Amino acid sequence: MVDRVSAALLDWYDRHARELPWRSRPGDAPPGPYRVWLSEIMLQQTTTAHAAPYYRKFLERWPTVEALAAAPEEDIMAEWAGLGYYSRARNLVACARAVAERGGFPDSEQELRKLPGLGDYTAAAVAAIAFGRHAVVIDANVERVVARLFAIDEPLPGARKAIRAGADSITPDERAGDFAQAMMDLGATICTRRDPKCLLCPVAADCQARIEGRQEQLPVKAKKKAKPQRMGTAFWIERPDVEGAQVWLVHRPGRGMLGGMRALPDDGWNARSDGSDEAPLPGAWRAGGVVRHSFTHFDLELGLAIYAGSRFEELVDGEWWPVANIEAAGLPTLFAKAVRLRQVL
Ligand code: ADE
Repeated sequence: MVDRVSAALLDWYDRHARELPWRSRPGDAPPGPYRVWLSEIMLQQTTTAHAAPYYRKFLERWPTVEALAAAPEEDIMAEWAGLGYYSRARNLVACARAVAERGGFPDSEQELRKLPGLGDYTAAAVAAIAFGRHAVVIDANVERVVARLFAIDEPLPGARKAIRAGADSITPDERAGDFAQAMMDLGATICTRRDPKCLLCPVAADCQARIEGRQEQLPVKAKKKAKPQRMGTAFWIERPDVEGAQVWLVHRPGRGMLGGMRALPDDGWNARSDGSDEAPLPGAWRAGGVVRHSFTHFDLELGLAIYAGSRFEELVDGEWWPVANIEAAGLPTLFAKAVRLRQVL
């Protein structure tokens, strides 16, 4: 069964591989490790459609890992804005610098794993796709495919060990990168969470879940806890200028939520009040509506407070930014939503 599955899957990939900007055609020489690494970091928690324009933009601006390593962190963070999970971008910078320092990417999973921000998944993906190493690459799509192929009943995340063993058993020594990406494509296009298209599946004959008619019930997931709801306020402070209005932006400090990103000033999102105690200026504020945003561990309802005064002397630690050019500020999606709300008012 094992050889049959990998052969059928590679054969299917030769005919049906998705064309994606970070890929070579099946069987061709792989893209270099910089491209593979950059795309795999972007693709964590992000769809291929959403990541593709970011990937192109990064490559155009920083065509090599040395170029990325030499760039100011601030520029990279701003270019990352909208991709979310900003600790990934900070690690991206740290990793690029470490790789440039050591003179290139290492070519084994074990050495790749030592680089900043490279977990099991990314190290395996780069080793397999860029270097053709036998490595077991497991993302959420692959998890689903393997849980079905082997009819693994144990709920996730507990099932991960069994899934890894199953995936390992079908991973070939040859064409490891194509195999990994074939599994991803199968999960994304055929072995979908709902309504899997088993009639089109190249490995249906060997799929235990399909044989038992249970493909839609697998993988079993542990019940998710409801996300807590947090509330907060962001502050819109605008002043007129000869060249058009400007808005006050701050740089979020450190390594916390959205750390290192430009942002509207806010109250820390723990508000039990209307946020006015935390306002960067005293005086008159008026309500400018609410935006909602979902983070991994909580949902946020962020009210926008608009400054109605005209005294700006007390503002510290920030910068005036032309409203007409706000896209170039690289605001994370939460604050970009607040800007859009302001612009429709
Ligand atoms: N998701 C994560 N990595 C991917 C890749 N290399 N191709 C398609 N989807 C992916």
